[in-house]
Amino acid sequence: MNLPYADPASVSDTFAFIIHPIDPKRDVSRKWPIVGKVLTEGQVNFLSAYFPPVYCSEINGVRSDATGHEVKGWFIACPFTPQRMLQLPVNAVYDKIVACGRKAQKLGAKIMGLGAYTSVVGDAGLSIAERLDLPVTTGDSYTIAIAVEAVRKAAEVMGIPLAGATAAVVGATGAIGSVCAQMLADDVAELILVGKRADTLEEVREKCEGHQAVIRAGTDMSLIYEADLVLTVTSAINTVIEPEHLKPGAVVCDVARPRDVSKIVAERRDDVLVIEGGMVEVPGPVDFHFDFGFPPHKAFACMAETMALALEGRYESYSLGKELTVEQARKIGAICARHGFKLSGFRSFEHAVTEEHIAHVRERAQANLKRQLVRD
Ligand SMILES: NC(=O)c1ccc[n+]([C@@H]2O[C@H](COP(=O)([O-])OP(=O)(O)OC[C@H]3O[C@@H](n4cnc5c(N)ncnc54)[C@H](OP(=O)(O)O)[C@@H]3O)[C@@H](O)[C@H]2O)c1
Repeated sequence: MNLPYADPASVSDTFAFIIHPIDPKRDVSRKWPIVGKVLTEGQVNFLSAYFPPVYCSEINGVRSDATGHEVKGWFIACPFTPQRMLQLPVNAVYDKIVACGRKAQKLGAKIMGLGAYTSVVGDAGLSIAERLDLPVTTGDSYTIAIAVEAVRKAAEVMGIPLAGATAAVVGATGAIGSVCAQMLADDVAELILVGKRADTLEEVREKCEGHQAVIRAGTDMSLIYEADLVLTVTSAINTVIEPEHLKPGAVVCDVARPRDVSKIVAERRDDVLVIEGGMVEVPGPVDFHFDFGFPPHKAFACMAETMALALEGRYESYSLGKELTVEQARKIGAICARHGFKLSGFRSFEHAVTEEHIAHVRERAQANLKRQLVRD
């Protein structure tokens, strides 16, 4: 048989990536269509506590543009939803993720990436890595690099000059949000930090001071109405950004999983651009053998970080814990770029964003801003 990628038996650099259901019925159906159809959301959530880690698929054909070297990997599912991870004692969640890690080791993985909420829970991978014999990365550093790049690119296509813009980071106190804020502070005129706790917001504000932007911080979501550019990356399990929070013409890059931006924004606000943060193009004839909801050849940035570390033969816990740095994000950004990973086209609520869509948003924004001016 002629495969588009190297014979898997000959590939020795390997990784595993832990995924988990976010929307219980939809995501369980991706692996077991009948189970997803028959069980209710509550039943899936309840039963997930008794499920072992689930082998999903082998990933082939991740090939470096720079070296031609190829790696292979595996998707392993942790059966918990974000709700379940928050309800259960943190040690029970760690136990399940560690069991995923042991499965990864048995398969031959040399590094393991933590997807979505498995990287948020507890101390962001530190306790999990301690209990395993393979390095663990949350993928957060490349998620940061790609999220900031996406905001810059979206500003460009919407005709928003960065140097004069007001940006907001929602979830600015988090592992990802804090570093995104520090990077955007170099780019924009004003930066608004939004979080849940004033004391931790103050710490992030201090880290952002001394750059180009004037910094403001607060816990009230209505602060983001002034922003031209919003990067949102909270750990909330329900949406936090509603139609009334956004001004006409605003760009929102939603990096959070589950999403921060309410679907109602897509329905009611045709004058704002909402894009999903974190989608990248993977180099090589990659086949995931599993549908995780992205078009072919695309992956989340956190998955890409794990793949790039394997391509680099750099088996180390690159992003671990809640304290990450701008330097880490820039370094992994350069490593990923060298191997051919790059920011992919924009998507919004699971649809590709076309040039026509962007032109329509700009037109509607201008009309609504004019109407606002006349009213005021
Ligand atoms: N797209 C990707 O490739 C990718 C990769 C990795 C992670 N993620 C997602 O990114 C998100 C954040 O991850 P993280 O590792 O940065 O998590 P984190 O370190 O726990 O940070 C999340 C922050 O959000 C804050 N927050 C929670 N609810 C909020 C609300 N309603 N309003 C404002 N702030 C709120 C939290 O504040 P408190 O600490 O005060 O609760 C925390 O500081 C998660 O949804 C994760 O699944 C996406």
